[in-house]
Amino acid sequence: MKAATTVSRTTTRHIAERKGGMPIVALTAYSASVAQIMDPYCDLILVGDSLGMVLYGMPTTLGVTVDMMIQHGLAVMRGSRKACVVVDLPFGSYQQSPQQAFATAARVMAETGCGGVKLEGGAEMAPTISFLVKRGIPVLAHIGLMPQAVHGQGGFRVQGRAEAETARVRADAAAIDGSGAFAVVVEGMVESLGRELTESLAIPTIGIGASPACDGQILVTDDLIGLFSQFKPKFVTRYANIGATVEAAIAAYAEDVKARRFPAPDNLFT
Ligand code: KIV
Repeated sequence: MKAATTVSRTTTRHIAERKGGMPIVALTAYSASVAQIMDPYCDLILVGDSLGMVLYGMPTTLGVTVDMMIQHGLAVMRGSRKACVVVDLPFGSYQQSPQQAFATAARVMAETGCGGVKLEGGAEMAPTISFLVKRGIPVLAHIGLMPQAVHGQGGFRVQGRAEAETARVRADAAAIDGSGAFAVVVEGMVESLGRELTESLAIPTIGIGASPACDGQILVTDDLIGLFSQFKPKFVTRYANIGATVEAAIAAYAEDVKARRFPAPDNLFT
């Protein structure tokens, strides 16, 4: 009997091995249906805590809970077969101590089956990342503009324009490089700094609003397809305008209902 063809998932180790090679393709997903569409094209799918703003209409990501991340993580795991799925640890669920971070990350991994977790923070989080990695939890780090630090960083501001800020991002990157993280998201920084970090770090950099030189790129999918229209960051290219398509379909449906054109004869059980 012929064995069924199985697709093996990309692992965090495969992602780490892409340093300096073919750019890593990464996107966010929060649902099984979107994960299923992107799975053949993506090396890494991030269940980002951006879902708080994008899906739930929150003003920042600070209100996202571990339970929300687990439910959306499970959906994305069900919808995908090939990509490495990484789930964000939300604000307040890991910063207190390495032990707190381990308890949260272990729960997220056990309950979703994801390949790793992401957390925000530079030099101050490097010991926590080492603690997790030594205990079997693959970590994707996140430095530069950190949405969970929106209040401390004075808003969603591009990093690396002032000398002190550049020095801090460089120090964060160096600390993360030695922490055991398998890769690092570098967000919202001047292009030259994103390029410099990519050249100097041993682990892959995954850029968002950073540099084309990064070892990979990530975007929030709803930005890329034009479904999230509250604002468009400069670093986003809209590859589609799905929001307008959805609106046109809903407007046409509403007109058909009011004119009794829907349901049509074909929709009826006779
Ligand atoms: O939460 C998220 O979606 C992210 C990406 C933008 C990197 O952190």
